[in-house]
Amino acid sequence: MHFPRYEKIWLAIGGGALAVFLIVLGIYGFGMGFNTPHDTQTVDAQTISQNPNFQPGVKQTGPNRYEVTIVARTFSFAPAVIQVPAGAEVTFRMTSADVVHGFEIPQTNVNVMVVPGQVTTITHTFEKPGNYLILCNEYCGTGHQLMQAQLQVQ
Ligand code: CUA
Repeated sequence: MHFPRYEKIWLAIGGGALAVFLIVLGIYGFGMGFNTPHDTQTVDAQTISQNPNFQPGVKQTGPNRYEVTIVARTFSFAPAVIQVPAGAEVTFRMTSADVVHGFEIPQTNVNVMVVPGQVTTITHTFEKPGNYLILCNEYCGTGHQLMQAQLQVQ
C-alpha cells in the first residue's frame, strides 16, 4: 500500500504523540505512584449521624498528628470550624450524608470529592498559621455557593 509523503509525516507525528503520552502515563503511574483511588472504605450514608465511628470532630492520633472527621451535607460541613496546631500532620476523613460535594482548601493541594457511601481521606501539613477557607467545589444544589467551613491553624 502506498502512503503519500505528508500522510507518513502525520502518521509519524500521531504515533510519536501517542508514544510520548504512554511514556508519561507510565512514569506517573508506575514510577511516581499516581493512581486512581482504590481500597476505599465505605460507610452507610443513610445512618451516618448515628454512626459512632463517624462523629464530626478533631482527634489527636499521635505526637503531632490529628484526624478530622467531617460530614458534608447540603449545604454545610460539620464541624463548621476546625482548629489544628500549625505544623501538625492533619488527615481529613470525610463522607457525605446526601449528594456529591467537594472539599477544597484554596492555596493548598487539598481538593477532593466527598461522595455519599464512601470515605475520602487526604493528609496535609499546614505550616503557616492563619484562617483557611474550606469550600465545596462540586455543584450540589441551590445553596452550593453558601457551603463552606473554616480551618483555624494556630
Ligand atoms: Cu456542596 Cu456544593
